[in-house]
This record gives sequence, structure tokens and C-alpha cells, in this order.
Amino acid sequence: MKVTVVGAGNVGATCADVIAHKELANEVVLVDIKENFAEGKALDIWQTAPINMYDTRMTGSTNDYAKTANSDVVVITSGLPRKPGMSRDDLISTNAGIVKSVTENIIKHSPKAIIIIVSNPLDVMTYCAYLTAKVDSKRVFGMAGILDTARYRAFLAEALNCSPKDIQAVLMGGHGDTMVPLPRYTTVGGIPVTELISKEKLDAIIDRTKKGGGEIVNLLGTSAWYAPGAAAAQMVEAIVRDQKRIFPVCAMLNGEYGLKNIYLGVPVKLGKNGIEEIIELKLNKEEKEMLDASAKSVKEVMDVLDNMHVVVK
Ligand code: NAI
Ligand code: 2OP
Repeated sequence: MKVTVVGAGNVGATCADVIAHKELANEVVLVDIKENFAEGKALDIWQTAPINMYDTRMTGSTNDYAKTANSDVVVITSGLPRKPGMSRDDLISTNAGIVKSVTENIIKHSPKAIIIIVSNPLDVMTYCAYLTAKVDSKRVFGMAGILDTARYRAFLAEALNCSPKDIQAVLMGGHGDTMVPLPRYTTVGGIPVTELISKEKLDAIIDRTKKGGGEIVNLLGTSAWYAPGAAAAQMVEAIVRDQKRIFPVCAMLNGEYGLKNIYLGVPVKLGKNGIEEIIELKLNKEEKEMLDASAKSVKEVMDVLDNMHVVVK
């Protein structure tokens, strides 16, 4: 297995490190546009191999995509991160140009690769990569739901003083303040969460989850990377090990949930073919209204991208 991670910054380097540490591939290529940056990060990560006891070869490249040829999976993290006061959508024009050019290079050298997008604004950058790659949408999708769900699960584990391992949850919608956590589908060791926590406390956790990215931007002055890098690596793992795991993923909808031609977070089955199934939950009226509102806000940013004509449809 060969995995390429584009963008050797905070999220990309963390993702590459987790992939190597878990030996998810024989070879990981880290690419960045900044001269010698990916080479330096790759060398540093590779020098953890004798300590962490893995065989995965890690190499770096300054924008030379020939080195990424025939990758099985590619993770795209290149792009600007948020600064305090910025929304994810503020990044659209710069990051769309970056995601487009990176995707063109990737497809040229790895036409069969499965592509995972991380760059923000996530749902719209995933759409941008899909329009550029011109391949089946089952092979181009975005990482956000695993991160958002992890934040929700971590906050719940703290509040309930229990292991985060026992908390299962589904979260849908766009990667933004309109995301849709679903308490009805949240369990703790198989017990519905609503039996273990008051509505007030749960509502506060949901609100904190929605603003979870911004909370870290305000603390650090840039966006998070440990959890995002680990979340993208978990998607790589499900694909390269053909695990058929059920995760919330930013996927192209073609009629599911009554929505069409939009990238949005939904539960899917991930395996060696990428998205192998989109799982349709029976949402109640209130949940469906929240999902529709989230879809509306994502669609508005997709329209901005369409009107910028960065990608010719
Ligand atoms: P960073 O600034 O640490 O790294 C980004 C890297 O991309 C830099 O090293 C930069 O040189 C590189 N880059 C820029 N243009 C490039 C190009 N054309 N080709 C190759 N490399 C290029 O940023 P960080 O923190 O790693 O975040 C990366 C992106 O991921 C941001 O857009 C951020 O908003 C997004 N993000 C998304 C999350 C999600 O849940 N989907 C979570 C966290 C971050
Ligand atoms: C996050 O949620 C900013 O999307 C980034 O941490």
C-alpha cells in the first residue's frame, strides 16, 4: 500500500505520523509546496521508526508529484488554516485554487487513488476536488464527521466520567456551526445517552461540539491538528484494511435524505472501494429540519465556488 499526504503542515504531518505508527502502508509520501518542508518533516517522522518499531517508509517531496505515482489513498490537507475571527468559509478562494491544482496533480499520477479531503471549508473543498478529479464520488470524500464526533464523545466522556471508548455517536450535516449531532443515536456502552445525562447538560455539550473547532482556534491562534490528523488516518485505515467501518463522512448525496448534488456529512460504510454504502437513518421531523438547514448553508458556499468558476464543470 502507498499513501500520499499533501500538505506537510500541522494536520498533514500528524496524519502521516499516525499512518506510519500504525503501519497502514509500506510507503508514505508527504508533499508540500514549501521548499524542503515535506522532506524535513518526513525525515523527522522516519527517525521515529526505530523507536516506535514500524517499517513504513516515509519520504518527502517539494511539489514533485512523480514521487506520489500509483498511490492507493491520498489525503489532501494543503491550504490555509483558520485564524481567530475567521470562519471556515473565509478560506474558500485561496483553498479552492490550492485543492484544484493539487487534485489535478494527484489524478495525473494516481488515477485510481481514493482521495480524502481535509482542507477547509471542508464540504465545499471536497466538492471542488470531486469536480476536478472527475471520478466516481465514492472515491472522493471528506473528513469532518469523525473529528466532530470525537469532540462530542470526548466531552461526553468527561461529563459522565466514563471511558470515551464506550461512547458511540452519529453526527450529520456540514462541518460548521450547523452540524447536526443526534442524541437519539448516541449510546454509552449500549445505553441511550438520554438515560444518563440531563437535557440541559447534553444541550450544552452539543453546543460546545458545534463550536469545538473555534474553541481550539481561540486557544492556539490556529486550528487543531492532533485530532484532525488522527481522524483522517482512521479513514485511511478503514480503506487500506477494508474494515467496512461505519463513520460519518462528507459524501456526495444523490437523492439520499431527499438531497441531491451536495456534499454533506452522513453515516457511510468505508472499505477498500471507498464509500461502499451511504446509510439512511430514519430522521424525525426536527432532525430532518436541522439537516436541511445545514444542507442549505453548505449549498450557499458551494454556489459561491460555482460562481467563482475555479473549476469548469
Ligand atoms: P498548516 O498551515 O499547518 O499546513 C498547511 C500546509 O499546506 C502548509 O505546510 C503549506 O505550505 C501547504 N500548502 C499550501 N499550498 C500548497 C500546495 N499548493 N501544495 C502543497 N502544499 C501546500 O495548516 P493545517 O493546520 O495543517 O490545516 C490544513 C487545512 O486543514 C486547513 O485548510 C484547515 O482549515 C483544515 N482543517 C480541516 C479540518 C477538518 O475537520 N476537515 C480540521 C483541521 C484543519
Ligand atoms: C476544526 O474543526 C478548524 O475545521 C477545523 O478544528
